[in-house]
Amino acid sequence: MRPDSVFAVVIEPQGLRFEARNGISLVASAREAGIVLPTSCRNGTCRACLCRVLSGRVRHLIDWPGLSAEEKREGCILPCVATPESALRIEAPKAFRSRVEPPLAT
Ligand code: FES
Repeated sequence: MRPDSVFAVVIEPQGLRFEARNGISLVASAREAGIVLPTSCRNGTCRACLCRVLSGRVRHLIDWPGLSAEEKREGCILPCVATPESALRIEAPKAFRSRVEPPLAT
């Protein structure tokens, strides 16, 4: 996989969509697209951003993200320190769009 590969991400249950680049955190890619995944520390320790992968693969950018073995088995990730390795569907009910898209020109 190229380090700058881009993958489609869908956030459930809202159906928000954005593109995320491999090597960049999901939180940062979402922000570039005007979508907020709630965070606090942004370094993988506080767990404020914890969400779940419904389909697809991610890689954590730090060696010891603050997740238990059971949470990892259930697909939990910390998107502030996780990057996509495939197209993703994630469950993050508190995510929201931070800016309104401008209307299409007619
Ligand atoms: S914001 Fe603290 S672990 Fe992600």
